[in-house]
Amino acid sequence: MVTKEEILKALEKEDLKDLGVDYTLRDITKEVELDEKGNLVLHILLPKKGIEDFLKIKLTHALGDLEELNSVKVKFYSPQPAGEQKPMPQIPTLGPGLPPKRKIAGVKRIVLVGSGKGGVGKSTVAVNLAVALKKEGFKVGLLDADIYGPSIPTILGLKNAVVTVSDDQRILPVEKNGLKVLSIGFMLPSEETPVIWRGALLMKAISQFLFEVDWGELDYLVIDLPPGTGDVQLTLAQNLVIDGAIAVTTPQDVALADVKKAIAMFEELSIPLLGLVENMAFFVCPKCGEKSFIFGQGRVEEYAKQKGLKVLAQIPVEPQVSLASDEGKPVVEAFEDSETAKAFKKLAKEISAVLPV
Ligand SMILES: Nc1ncnc2c1ncn2[C@@H]1O[C@H](COP(=O)(O)OP(=O)(O)OP(=O)(O)O)[C@@H](O)[C@H]1O
Ligand SMILES: [Mg+2]
Repeated sequence: MVTKEEILKALEKEDLKDLGVDYTLRDITKEVELDEKGNLVLHILLPKKGIEDFLKIKLTHALGDLEELNSVKVKFYSPQPAGEQKPMPQIPTLGPGLPPKRKIAGVKRIVLVGSGKGGVGKSTVAVNLAVALKKEGFKVGLLDADIYGPSIPTILGLKNAVVTVSDDQRILPVEKNGLKVLSIGFMLPSEETPVIWRGALLMKAISQFLFEVDWGELDYLVIDLPPGTGDVQLTLAQNLVIDGAIAVTTPQDVALADVKKAIAMFEELSIPLLGLVENMAFFVCPKCGEKSFIFGQGRVEEYAKQKGLKVLAQIPVEPQVSLASDEGKPVVEAFEDSETAKAFKKLAKEISAVLPV
């Protein structure tokens, strides 16, 4: 059973440097209530109004690996006037502070594509969803926010693309078959260049991506997130009004366990979760057409049911997807009649139905 000490240790590991202070979550935790069933209530001193969401995601981070925790509730307290209580750590400067959430000029709807785990097919889903929405007649942009491992330039065959800057010094996305695309990959001198964006630099790179790009008029901007629940997700959620998120998973237990963390993160950040996409859900035998559920069947649906979520699409494993991606052609374009392309088109229809423009 998880103990209070373990919880405090985990809280100590999560720093609050993004706020410009040297404290950890433990420093602002006033009380830890834990019952024998693993239900936790944390009493947190709120150093500044309006950062509750920020602290919640930090808590999700800190406690996400403690599997025995059944539930976590947070009670926030404003600091008491001096003298009445043990004084809380003084937080004199809060760095640049947290700006209010904004919309991107000209963009009607923003959809995030995330997952808890790497390699489950987020980028594939983001690209094909964007292409499928475009085929429905919408104006679509695609932003590769995976600044650690941008793969959209490869999937779209845009490895040699370079971005240009408009007269008013805004970044102009690259256009591919009517899709507007922007990736940090376009700004790197070569594929081998390591991208080590940390702290302030990272924030700057993302906010530049968000607000200094001339997207023109867009119905949908699809954002491909890096895996997990890290700084990029946090930065986007803090800065942007987001219409919805899609969580991608594969049928395996491990991926599903991780996607739960991503879902918890979206919940904490009050980003509406549009539903799940089960990627690599089954394999269709090219000879007999029989479906085999090679990675297991039913677990994603069962979980979705439990959580009251929708499974927006089940995408089959198809060697063509991988091959087409490597050659820079998303499957929705390269093999329009394949089962996979059909599944992505269904996904696009679901999204445009829940988020009409
Ligand atoms: N339905 C599918 N059928 C066959 N191959 C697939 C399918 N979906 C994804 N792939 C392949 O799996 C690999 C990983 O996919 P992708 O890059 O989209 O994952 P990701 O979640 O974005 O990964 P990362 O976490 O590294 O960003 C790629 O080679 C891709 O072509
Ligand atoms: Mg990716």
